[in-house]
Amino acid sequence: MVNVAASAQEKEALLNEIAAEIRVCTRCELHRTRTNSVPGEGPADARIMFIGEAPGWNEDQQGRPFVGAAGKFLEELLAAAGLKRSDVFITNVVKSRPPGNRDPLPDEIVACAPFLQRQIDTIDPDVIVTLGRFSMAKWFPGERISRIHGQPKKDGKRLIVPMYHPAAALHQQALKATILEDFAKLPRILAEAEAAREAEARADEPPPSQISMF
Ligand code: URA
Repeated sequence: MVNVAASAQEKEALLNEIAAEIRVCTRCELHRTRTNSVPGEGPADARIMFIGEAPGWNEDQQGRPFVGAAGKFLEELLAAAGLKRSDVFITNVVKSRPPGNRDPLPDEIVACAPFLQRQIDTIDPDVIVTLGRFSMAKWFPGERISRIHGQPKKDGKRLIVPMYHPAAALHQQALKATILEDFAKLPRILAEAEAAREAEARADEPPPSQISMF
């Protein structure tokens, strides 16, 4: 676990190390068929992190997450939340493209899990948004997205918000309004999570009687 007091520069160096490992990773069979692995991108001190499923064709070509049609829609959704892509960290559960965009296999998810965990520990975001069922399963095993979408759950000091995958919403008009409404809740969720973190930091401060006057 990374020191939570790590500076943005230290966090960036750690993220770069993780990304370098992901680029040459051979822990699962996906390395044989990928063009580029896709570590993720965004500021090391992002307060909010988005976790999708796995790279698709465009992402595999460019080595960047969410750069195809789903990515364009994600940028629209971020705008609905008053956010820009450059404000947030975006990554996936699995860092290499499954051939033909099939679902990631359990052993591929397990092989990639330590990379995702290290990214989360390093960034230490106030809010994590899961996009689709594979990232949702990490925090909400056995749950159905249709029941819990847009409803934050506390995980220690942070909030996890399950959302529909932008690609699913893009192809089902009925879900488009739902996902837009869910994203519009993010500013309030982020403010709540930041307030909780600040309150916790204040609670950790020594009481005034323990502060030396000399
Ligand atoms: N879908 C995902 O889940 N991730 C991407 O990076 C692109 C599409």
